[in-house]
Amino acid sequence: MTERTLALIKPDGVRRGLTGEIVRRIEAKGYTLVRLELREATPELLAEHYEEHQGKPFYEPLVEFMLSGPVVAMVLEGERCIEGFRSLAGATDPTAAAPGTIRGDLGRDWGLKVQQNLVHGSDAPETAEREIGIWFPTS
Ligand code: CMP
Repeated sequence: MTERTLALIKPDGVRRGLTGEIVRRIEAKGYTLVRLELREATPELLAEHYEEHQGKPFYEPLVEFMLSGPVVAMVLEGERCIEGFRSLAGATDPTAAAPGTIRGDLGRDWGLKVQQNLVHGSDAPETAEREIGIWFPTS
């Protein structure tokens, strides 16, 4: 089924100059870039985006990290691209992420309070719709 997902290159990815490499992997997989913008997140936007994580021990450091620099926000389209982008991204923990994935090949464990794991991808169709609405309210 053709679907859309929200993908983010987090501030660590942009800061390390990995935007091109990550976008290359997305395009090589065959997903279409429907939207792509370099953006500064805001505390309000992140509170909505990370609603389910509010109250967790990593929530505050996560928001602080996501505000530490620009992010690249993208809407991807393709056959089963929600699952497919998460598969490209690899496991949340960059040390555990399989080689061949974005996090497995490029991610580092910095020993910090939050996983600085380069990318985010929506985890289900309802989440994708919600997150696309948060980051691209006009789409
Ligand atoms: P993401 O899947 O984009 O959304 C939630 C983020 O919180 C996740 O990426 C990581 O950056 C971070 N995260 C999730 N679980 C943990 C954890 N157990 N410890 C630290 N950070 C986490």
